[in-house]
Amino acid sequence: MAEEAILGYLEKNPEISDSGRFADEFGLDHNEVVNVIKSLNGFRYVDAEDIKMEKWVLTNEGETYTATGSPEMQLFLAIPPEGIPREELQKKLGPSIFKIGCAQAAKNKWVEMGKQMISRKVHHVEDKVKNLLLQIKDGKEIYDEDVKALKARKLIVSQTWKGYLVRRGSNYAPRRKKVATDLTRENLQRGDWRELEFKEYNFNAKGQPLLCGHLHPLLKVRQQIKNIFRQMGFEEMPTNNYVESSFWNFDALFQPQQHPARDAHDTFFLKAPSTTRELPEDYVERVKQVHETGGYGSKGYGYNWKREEANKNLLRTHTTAVTSRMLYMLAQKPFAPKKYFSIDRVFRNEAVDRTHLAEFHQIEGLICGQGLTLGDLIGVLYDFFSRLGMSKLRFKPAYNPYTEPSMEIFSYHEGFKKWVEVGNSGMFRPEMLLPMGFPEDARIIAWGLSLERPTMIMYGVDNIRDLFGHKVDLSLVKKNPICRLGIEARSE
Ligand code: PHE
Repeated sequence: MAEEAILGYLEKNPEISDSGRFADEFGLDHNEVVNVIKSLNGFRYVDAEDIKMEKWVLTNEGETYTATGSPEMQLFLAIPPEGIPREELQKKLGPSIFKIGCAQAAKNKWVEMGKQMISRKVHHVEDKVKNLLLQIKDGKEIYDEDVKALKARKLIVSQTWKGYLVRRGSNYAPRRKKVATDLTRENLQRGDWRELEFKEYNFNAKGQPLLCGHLHPLLKVRQQIKNIFRQMGFEEMPTNNYVESSFWNFDALFQPQQHPARDAHDTFFLKAPSTTRELPEDYVERVKQVHETGGYGSKGYGYNWKREEANKNLLRTHTTAVTSRMLYMLAQKPFAPKKYFSIDRVFRNEAVDRTHLAEFHQIEGLICGQGLTLGDLIGVLYDFFSRLGMSKLRFKPAYNPYTEPSMEIFSYHEGFKKWVEVGNSGMFRPEMLLPMGFPEDARIIAWGLSLERPTMIMYGVDNIRDLFGHKVDLSLVKKNPICRLGIEARSE
């Protein structure tokens, strides 16, 4: 309909100067006309130029007066020739029409406002306001001063109107050519493929949304990081136990029992089963010794180590709990160099805010070898983080009960133009490794980071609750782009 009208009109006329007026003239819906123009413009049947206009439209109040008449008119008509007491008139009209009506009618000198009585001053009046409103509704022009007055009374507001000026395009034809979308067997048999005109490919068209499951951004980033670790020759550690004993989560890591992290304020302890069933007894004894009196060149902490404290079950607070179990097992075998990693969930009894959740994910990597140094750690961190796309690093001395030296890792963020903390690292202490049974010259370098942090930076999420947890918008999960680590994210 609209298409025929537009192409037909342009056959006889050089242009459609205003798509809005055109739509009115032909009794078409302007939205439909606009859609057809856009499509014809895309195929160069027409050249369309945007036109924008400020248009006046009636407010709800203005609209009402086109039916009821203006308040001043309503008031005038409600006054009988002999006049009427104020209260009575107010009751007749209602307080708001009465108020506006009085003000306007008095201004127009239509009425005499006595102390008690209101009476007509003239015999006949014209409802100018109603007429003006009707004119605006019809799209007619009115004088500026009238526009001003109606605007001041909030009976009209301006609206930007968008339409098109349309001329013939380079592919103009009075009718759209039927274009073929497929070359069929019949076309080939009949030979009519020679005459067919084929629809051009639209390489910018978006594909149909897929009706299938979608990976959460955290899963995508996790997969990429797993790939990086594997490319670097790391093996994955088993992380399938959220529940851990305090022993593996803290004690084996030379974390003293009075350490604030072991408080219920920071850690979720389990009610049932509240304690662990078994621990390797001779190793437990060595851990107790190293906490209490030291050994292996250490003075220890010099406090009374309690088994009950080590037995307490908790939700692991870091994946280093997995590491300590793994390293203990490794130390029971003849020494061999190893590279391990893990990526899984950890839990902290923390106040939730835009960067903290009570559950999140940690990434951890470690290398076990003879004679490794801090230089090796720094080197491997450069290697690992550059594969994540962070090649400018800085290190800051830090403290962990289980590593010495320890370093916080910072990376320069080109987008934020500042250094952001991206992880923590260190060399495991002899007080941790030697009781496990590692030889004297075994050195283990390790680092950890959260999975959420790089994911938030990569996907531009600034509140962790929008990424993970029950408040996540499912369309984020559906629409998030693929993840290619180490390649500058395209900003779209
Ligand atoms: N476990 C540390 C954390 O929770 C990270 C870390 C891992 C630090 C390994 C040093 C070595 O932040």
